[in-house]
Amino acid sequence: MTALDSVLTSEDYRTVKGFFASSAHWFVLAALAGLFLASAMVAPDFPLYKNVAWLVFSRLRPMHTNMMIFGFVGSALLGSAYYYVPHLTRSPLRSPGMGRAVVWLWNLTVASGTVTLALGYTQSREYAEWVWPVDILLLVVFVLTFCNLLMTVLAREEKLLYVSIWYAFGAMIFTFFIYFFGNAVWNPGTGAITGMPDGILAWFYGHGIVGLFLTPLGVGLAYYVIPIVIRAPLFSHAVSLIGFWTILMFYPHIGTHHLLQTPAPTWLKIIAVTGSIGMLIPVLAVLINLWLTMRGKLGQIHADTGGKFVFAGLVWYLFVCVQGPFQSLPSVQTVTHLTNWVIGHSHIAVFGFAGFIGLGGIYFITPRITGRPLYSNKLADIQYWLVLVGLSGFFLVLTAAGLIQGTGWLYGKTVYVILPELHVYWVWRLGFGVLIVSGAVVGLYNIMRSLYGSGAVGDEQ
Ligand code: HEM
Ligand code: HEM
Repeated sequence: MTALDSVLTSEDYRTVKGFFASSAHWFVLAALAGLFLASAMVAPDFPLYKNVAWLVFSRLRPMHTNMMIFGFVGSALLGSAYYYVPHLTRSPLRSPGMGRAVVWLWNLTVASGTVTLALGYTQSREYAEWVWPVDILLLVVFVLTFCNLLMTVLAREEKLLYVSIWYAFGAMIFTFFIYFFGNAVWNPGTGAITGMPDGILAWFYGHGIVGLFLTPLGVGLAYYVIPIVIRAPLFSHAVSLIGFWTILMFYPHIGTHHLLQTPAPTWLKIIAVTGSIGMLIPVLAVLINLWLTMRGKLGQIHADTGGKFVFAGLVWYLFVCVQGPFQSLPSVQTVTHLTNWVIGHSHIAVFGFAGFIGLGGIYFITPRITGRPLYSNKLADIQYWLVLVGLSGFFLVLTAAGLIQGTGWLYGKTVYVILPELHVYWVWRLGFGVLIVSGAVVGLYNIMRSLYGSGAVGDEQ
């Protein structure tokens, strides 16, 4: 328990609780949408997928991705930032009322984005599909969060700004600008400009939203949780700041690695590919620093429910960020681009890395804001295994399917020959998806009972 915990009550943490409860709900809804998409790919002729407008693939897919990125993972990471920024500065959240309003506004953003997509309103650019009024709501959330956290930091007692705070503010500032420019918010009719420049802008946004919203918040949370779980200081504050500044240096301009097989300017492609390799610097700075911090203490980490999720998230981060630079190479993309390989990468990235760390944050922080243990550590453990096995299987089958697709196209096989070959992999993906949905449902029950219930079931580890 920290000094701040002894003066704050559970009431003061309503913002954090609201974000965590929202995350658990969006996780279930978004995973169900994913499951539906996966079943549509297994049995596309089933009438439901064609006759009910809001269930057609083209509407449900962006509903799934946006609910996952903003609703599930975004809520968990933002809620955690609302907890650790005050704690690391030893200064209570400046305006709890504004915090609670932000939770409502955030949910209104994700809900209205989802409903408008279901009704067929879209701006048709990946992860930027929400129409402009929804974009404005999201930007307001970022401005209010930035102001509230900034006022908290300005009133701080602790003079040293720990690296998690740097990451939280970096995410807030960069996401605002990337979202504003990348969504062409100044062009409300279409949310787009035209031609190749729009493609470049769209991927400046697309990679920015995962790289400068989810990544810094995920890494910042890992930096917060790991040292506390093992009760040891961070290996190196200097290395953590090198990682912070280099991620800001490389990430904003590598989006064109999504456009290597288009007429984008060659100089931009070269910058994108070299920057993607350069990304190994911030990634390794984070992983080596945290690894040296927790060396020899893995037992302690796995004895803590939140710590275990965060640790798994860091292992996924390693996989994602070895795979990422590799698939940025033009010769590799000749095989992997536009195949299921990339869908495998997206899931281990957004879910494996950012989602696992987000869940870890929820499980780590919840007992600290309610003043009692989690409702059930066993249920959290069951969720951990369901999602870990589900995602690992998901990744393996999609990577295999992607290689079959990519090599098939490379050697001139037509789509009609390859599609039947992929079917069995998509059936497996559906099966692994059932595990992830079950994990989300177990998590929802456990998180809600832990946040708002009256006690634990007494299965302490
Ligand atoms: C070292 C860091 C990384 C590099 C160099 C990298 C590289 C890439 C490349 C080249 C692609 C496009 C592949 C293609 O279309 O052929 C891609 C796709 C993607 N990446 Fe990463 N990645 C990195 C880390 C991450 C992280 C940390 C996340 C999430 C938090 C992420 C999320 C995604 C997503 C969602 C896509 C799919 C985009 C789409 O819809 O096409 N990546 N990545
Ligand atoms: C029940 C489990 C899930 C299933 C069955 C599922 C299924 C799907 C399907 C079928 C697609 C479309 C693929 C395509 O267009 O070929 C997709 C895309 C995507 N999903 Fe999921 N998903 C699940 C869980 C998740 C989770 C937990 C996350 C993140 C937290 C996530 C993030 C994404 C992203 C970012 C994309 C876009 C991928 C890209 O374009 O590269 N999904 N998912």
